[in-house]
Parts: sequence; C-alpha cells; structure tokens
Amino acid sequence: MSVAFRNNIARMEGYQPGEQPQDGGYIKLNTNENPYPPSPMVRRAVMSELKDTLRLYPDPDATRLRRQAALTYGFDLSQTIAGSGSDDLLAMIARAFIGEKDALCCPVPTYSLYETLVRIQGGRILGIPYPDDYTLPARIFRSRANVTMVASPNSPSGTEVPLPVLSRLADSVPGLLVVDEAYADFAQESALSLARERKNVIVLRTMSKSFSLAGLRIGLGFAHTRIIRGLNKVKDSYNMNRLSIAAGEAALRDIGWMERNAGRIKMTRERLVRALPGVGFSPFPSQANFVLAKRAGGKSAAPVYEALKKRKILVRYFDTPRLSGCLRITVGTDAEIDALLSALGKLR
Ligand SMILES: Cc1ncc(COP(=O)(O)O)c(C=O)c1O
Repeated sequence: MSVAFRNNIARMEGYQPGEQPQDGGYIKLNTNENPYPPSPMVRRAVMSELKDTLRLYPDPDATRLRRQAALTYGFDLSQTIAGSGSDDLLAMIARAFIGEKDALCCPVPTYSLYETLVRIQGGRILGIPYPDDYTLPARIFRSRANVTMVASPNSPSGTEVPLPVLSRLADSVPGLLVVDEAYADFAQESALSLARERKNVIVLRTMSKSFSLAGLRIGLGFAHTRIIRGLNKVKDSYNMNRLSIAAGEAALRDIGWMERNAGRIKMTRERLVRALPGVGFSPFPSQANFVLAKRAGGKSAAPVYEALKKRKILVRYFDTPRLSGCLRITVGTDAEIDALLSALGKLR
C-alpha cells in the first residue's frame, strides 16, 4: 500500500497520518470501534494458533471461517467469501467489476473508500445526493451503472434503507447491487435474504464493529456462487492470516457474546440520542453504533470538534459543505458517553 493511499485512509478514518491515539488517555469516539472486548473464545482460538504452524502459509480459502459463516448466516460455502476487513472485499469488487470508464453509482454522502477504489480503477463515480431525510434518492433507481453500492446502515448518517426498498433497487439496477452491512448488527433489518434470492446482490459484513475485532481485519461477503467465483479470481491468494481465520470462526461460534454487546450499545445509543438536543445537537435517527448530530443554529461543528479534542475526546468531523455542521459520534460505553455529554454541556 502506498504512503499516499495509507494517508488517505488515515484521513478518512478521522485522524491525521501519524496521529492515531491508541489510548493515551483519549476517549476515542471517532472510528466506530466497539468499546467492549471480543469474546474470550477469540483469545483462546488466537492463542492456540500461536504455535510452530505459523511458519506455514494460511489456508488461501479461509475454509474454517467461511464454513462457520455459511452455517451462521444460512448460505452454502460456495456463496461465501472472506476478506481482510470488508475494505478488502470492497477492493475486490472494484477490481473485478470496475474497468476504465465503468461507473459505480452510490447515494452520497457515504463511506468515502468507495470513491477512492473506483478512481484507482480509472472508473467513474456517480454520487447521487441523499435528500435531507436520508431516504434513498429516486434517481438511483434509474442509474445505468454496472455497480450500485448502498451502505445500510449508512455512514456517516447512520440511517437504514428498508429491505423492500433494497429489493426494488435490486430489480431496477442493470448490474451488481452491493449492500454494505458493516453496521447491520445494530440495525433492525438485513438484506442477507436478497443475497440468497437474487443473482445480482452481494451483501458485505465486517467483524470490526459488532464483533469488536477491528484489529484483526475480518470481512465476509455473501452472494450467488457466480459472483463469488468472480471475486476469487482477483483475490490476493493469502488475504486472510492464520490468526484472523481462527479468530473469526471462534467469534461466530460465540455469536451470543456479540449480540449482548450490540444490545448494550443500542441502549447507550438511545440514551445519547435523547440527550443530544439538551446540549445543542439534533441527532439523525441511527441504526448503527454511531450517531450523526447537527449543531443547532446552522453553526459549524468544527470549533466543537477542536474543543472536544483538547479535552481528549475524539469524534469525527467532516469538512464538507453538507456535513460541516455535524459531528459523527461513536457510541462508546455509558461512562464515555457521559463524559462526552458533560463536555458538550460545558461548551454550549
Ligand atoms: C460503511 C463501511 N463499510 C466498510 C467499512 C470497513 O470495515 P472493515 O474494518 O471491515 O474494513 C467501514 C469502516 O468504517 C464502514 O463504515
């Protein structure tokens, strides 16, 4: 990965290159990580993998992990692919489906990596603005792009596209529909059924958020066998390492652990949403582990972002015309959210 590309990613993630506080006393509410630890079964699986077999290459097909994922989510093994984070799967989709001058259509604002990947391929991005209420824009149904990509729940808005709308979109688009479900475990609905039923839908999941495994880089994709076969042609041979294969399998076997943590995060999210108007911010309805909130009075949120940073609280600020009045706040522990709310109260 080039330095420029890495720096671009770092900026997207909400910190300047070289400024990536691991903890250092910071309350880190800027990159949608999970505040709770992963399942103890993950630790056990990783420890048992730390032996002399580390000298051997990992299984290029990540079969253990994919078999467990297929079982957990109701797919065949041949309909399942694993990636080094869902970023890796997004890169595979771009490599496999976007050639020079091909178009990828997505509602915007959304996850900015989509545009970066399309540009690397020499393709075109057709960004269709979300209306203020973040319902899916009607124009996307008329797009002729060969790939249409929708994050649901979306980042940074946190809003979800209802399943019947995604189903209609799958019928309307001429090519592949990618539903990026990085935050689906915090939401009400999922499009996994579309990946089972339709030949042109791929649903992506990540273990970075709900499973608390951002540091291990595990993503999953579910689609018709033909799509998976296409992605395998452009996949790096050993894209998953031994530790992430073992960890992902263990985390899926102990899915109840993730569900309990997601439940706690959803409770804290509702508390945050209720409290934000009292400290001068209107929240957008969120189905994710973060909340986008708009500062009252049409003022820029930049000074608030800076003031929070001085108090060692990191949230995400986007310096764009559409989002400069907003902050995206990751839902941390109750104590972290209390600290944030108290700081926001003092800054009013
Ligand atoms: C919408 C969306 N998709 C994908 C990802 C990437 O997740 P991963 O850590 O699995 O690469 C993110 C990360 O923030 C995201 O917000």
